[in-house]
Amino acid sequence: KQAANTNITWHPSLSRHERNEYRKQRGFTLWFTGLSASGKSTVATALEQHLLHLGLAAYRLDGDNVRFGLNKDLGFSDKDRTENIRRIGEVAKLFADSSTIALTSFISPFKADRQLARELHEAAGSQQPGDDPLPFIEVYVDVPVAVAEQRDPKGLYKKARAGEIKEFTGISSPYEAPENPEITIRTHERSVEECVADIVAWLEEKKLIP
Ligand code: PPS
Repeated sequence: KQAANTNITWHPSLSRHERNEYRKQRGFTLWFTGLSASGKSTVATALEQHLLHLGLAAYRLDGDNVRFGLNKDLGFSDKDRTENIRRIGEVAKLFADSSTIALTSFISPFKADRQLARELHEAAGSQQPGDDPLPFIEVYVDVPVAVAEQRDPKGLYKKARAGEIKEFTGISSPYEAPENPEITIRTHERSVEECVADIVAWLEEKKLIP
């Protein structure tokens, strides 16, 4: 495998299967997507805690937090959001490849960007002989804009309505809802604990966790 226009080549490493055997767990990515204040981070954090409590390695990448470091050069234009999600897709893939459960809570408003993140995980299956694709599970946090706006924990919807924040998702920048997410949760209809339990049940059924 040769990267385009460079003198770098792919370096073979341990197989994922071997790594999973050592770690006694399978890595995968749970990709939360939804409006600001939909409950992505709240549910993902509670789920991370639940998985850690089971003795599984899990790590959550968070929208606001990643923008303090890795993605501090990015804003909220369509182009920057696309690059934000591309980088997170790559990072989540690395965590999953290391037999960790990666949880990502980013608005990730564009279908094509989420699709790219999914494809990065699928392509990880052809990295080395014997490697399977990395499971990519899209979790749609489906909450109406009116509910998110009512919650408005950071006062951002208010600022967006007042025109103080440009390109705010759901108000002045689009959110493209997933058509076929693996899991849908509705935090205005179920408690955080119930949402976590639903996701855990799905993961158990698919035998992704014991
Ligand atoms: S994206 O669209 O996936 O690149 O966004 P993300 O990295 O998840 O960052 C979303 C958080 O940034 C804050 N914020 C904004 N959100 C949407 N639109 C605009 N213009 C904006 N400006 C700042 C907001 O707090 C989001 O946090 P969450 O946790 O989603 O509420």
